[in-house]
Amino acid sequence: MQIDVFTLFPDWFGWFEGQRHVANARAAGHELRYASYRDHSELSGRQVDDTPFGGGAGMVLRVDVVDAAIQGFYGRDSLDVRRERRVVALTASGRVLDDALVDELAREPALTLLSGRYEGFDERVVENLATDAVSIGRYVLSGGELAAMVLVDAVLRKLPGSLGHEESAVEESFSAALEGAPEYPHYTRPAEYRGWKVPDVLLTGHHERIREWRLEQSRRRDKA
Ligand SMILES: C[S@@+](CC[C@H](N)C(=O)[O-])C[C@H]1O[C@@H](n2cnc3c(N)ncnc32)[C@H](O)[C@@H]1O
Repeated sequence: MQIDVFTLFPDWFGWFEGQRHVANARAAGHELRYASYRDHSELSGRQVDDTPFGGGAGMVLRVDVVDAAIQGFYGRDSLDVRRERRVVALTASGRVLDDALVDELAREPALTLLSGRYEGFDERVVENLATDAVSIGRYVLSGGELAAMVLVDAVLRKLPGSLGHEESAVEESFSAALEGAPEYPHYTRPAEYRGWKVPDVLLTGHHERIREWRLEQSRRRDKA
């Protein structure tokens, strides 16, 4: 899979790139690239934002700047790019990211993520340059970079090669293996700590009973 992130702060992703599963995903052949809106701005002083029509606080990320960045990065018209791959504008008010949407995005061969800043995008970005508007939750972040990292993290976990042998995305919260329910609780040594005991069933070594107990816990959490 190829994921391209458009941002005003490509450097922010240095830390993210250092994470093991991201490095694993790259080693497995998945590609992560970054594009700076500012590098493609032809406005004076590489301006990227402007005051909102109609007045109000804050600045708005310009549609011509985002368009130029997409065209400059891909070397073709943004509308062609939009026809060829999912272009996701990260917005506080978009479709809320959940496991089903992560699965859907993880099936794509290529994704483009547009991170906003300031008061957000000129709405024509969302309407004409993007295929989707996605929110990571009903709260407001200062910029789309953290949202992009959240989305990429969740998508990469679904791709073969990004998790180590000891981890698996097959039986995780909200997966089909758990009927879409939250995951069951985990415990490790010590078996008793300050009087807090690990459930007896987990110490029996009885795989079938442990499996039933875990499914039951998972279903219970779903109802809670
Ligand atoms: C300060 S926010 C803009 C908030 C906007 N004025 C509003 O009220 O919805 C700047 C940028 O952060 C990103 N952002 C903020 N919250 C987000 C969220 N919950 N999910 C995804 N992106 C978010 C978006 O890219 C947005 O353009």
